[in-house]
Amino acid sequence: MTAYENILIETKGRVGIIRLNRPKALNALCADLVRELGQALDGFESDLNVGCVVLTGSDKAFAAGADIKEMKEKSYQDVFLEDFITVGWEKVSQIRKPIIAAVAGYALGGGCEMAMMCDFIIAADNAKFGQPEITLGTIPGAGGTQRLPRFVGKSKAMDLVLTGRMMDAVEAESCGLVSRLVPLGQLMDEAIATAEKIAGMSLPATMVAKEAVNRAFETTLAEGIRFERRTFHATFAFEDRKEGMNAFADKRKAAWKHR
Ligand code: CAA
Repeated sequence: MTAYENILIETKGRVGIIRLNRPKALNALCADLVRELGQALDGFESDLNVGCVVLTGSDKAFAAGADIKEMKEKSYQDVFLEDFITVGWEKVSQIRKPIIAAVAGYALGGGCEMAMMCDFIIAADNAKFGQPEITLGTIPGAGGTQRLPRFVGKSKAMDLVLTGRMMDAVEAESCGLVSRLVPLGQLMDEAIATAEKIAGMSLPATMVAKEAVNRAFETTLAEGIRFERRTFHATFAFEDRKEGMNAFADKRKAAWKHR
């Protein structure tokens, strides 16, 4: 297995777990960390034995944002030419398998944005979300101005982006940023159990379901419904679709082939 310096990876059954691990910098997302994250996601994407990924940090920080010390001397030319906040980051939103963010502690700036790139967020009761870039004289650069309003609506997104304030876990759940809120001590059990449940479904069915839900954010209702209908029809080509329906009729558990 590849040795990483800024992340820890493991698999539990069909669940791939990636833990951001730069404790001295509250998991600030430096270039090396994000590059390693991209590699780990590629590895899980191509591993047929992985059906769902959990992305997490420490009890204190999911991630406190892009690495401010690393970026503070960069010029416009630097960030434009290297396509800063793109390489590695895009893997989180482009992975085709389901991915859950398990967030404890700070999820700020790029950390909040990275959590929002995942399919859904399970948060511990100590989680704090925010887009504090405005306090640094800049703006969110990893999708925050676009994804946050889609999760929480314009009013709260503007409030967070313009004031830079943090939102606690209760507020994050009540406004729809977070799908489930659990006590800190139960975060990983809940996230892994949820990922195991998803990974226990037919892999191609979960991939198609994810793609269809994501289409809702990219298109009109009519086109989205058409996309859903066509991909629903396409699932009839899956061996697992036939198995799932036969298993229901036979009153037995489906034996997926992930085909
Ligand atoms: N980048 C680099 N280093 C960071 C960091 C970051 N985003 N966040 C924390 N650190 C470092 C601190 O500098 C500190 O290092 P030293 O011990 O060497 O001084 C260490 O992590 C611990 O942090 P604090 O001492 O500040 O811890 P705290 O508990 O007092 O405060 C905090 C925690 C409120 C999260 C505070 O660290 C903080 O405000 N961090 C910055 C949050 C931020 O502005 N994030 C947005 C970054 S910009 C961005 O993400 C752009 C984008 O959209 C892609």
